[in-house]
Amino acid sequence: MKKISIISITLFAAILIFNSCYRDSEEGLYRFVPPSCDTTNVSFTSTVSPIISANCISCHTGAGAGGGYQLDSYAGVKAIADNGKLVNSVTYVSNGMPKSGKMDNCNVNKIVAWVNKGALNN
Ligand code: HEC
Repeated sequence: MKKISIISITLFAAILIFNSCYRDSEEGLYRFVPPSCDTTNVSFTSTVSPIISANCISCHTGAGAGGGYQLDSYAGVKAIADNGKLVNSVTYVSNGMPKSGKMDNCNVNKIVAWVNKGALNN
């Protein structure tokens, strides 16, 4: 009799354990993965300009702007988008910018996506 109850308790426990694993949801398991980077709705005003303001303007404004590139206006950013230097610099292909280190991939990808969509003044 004792043996039977030990077996049934073990079995019951095993079922509970397997059941709890089976019910793990995807949301529960991957809860801490950050949301993916949205590069579909990029615009100059709401995406690119804030990134440039936070990471580039400090050196790229006024008469002494780095390389003579003033990035505090659409026209200034559009100029380096058109000559290929914006993408090359933020991807660190050449003349990596910001000089202090590459921005996180999401910011880089957003800028590249904006350029690929025509670098519009949107
Ligand atoms: C710490 C100051 C600093 C920051 C921050 C900075 N730059 Fe620059 N940048 C410079 C200087 C100085 C130059 C002039 C060329 C050189 O010294 O490499 C330059 C040159 C450039 C050039 C011309 C490169 C070439 O190939 O001729 C581009 C494009 C550029 N920066 C884009 C950016 C962008 C975009 C950001 C922000 C993501 C940024 N920079 C942030 C200082 C900075």
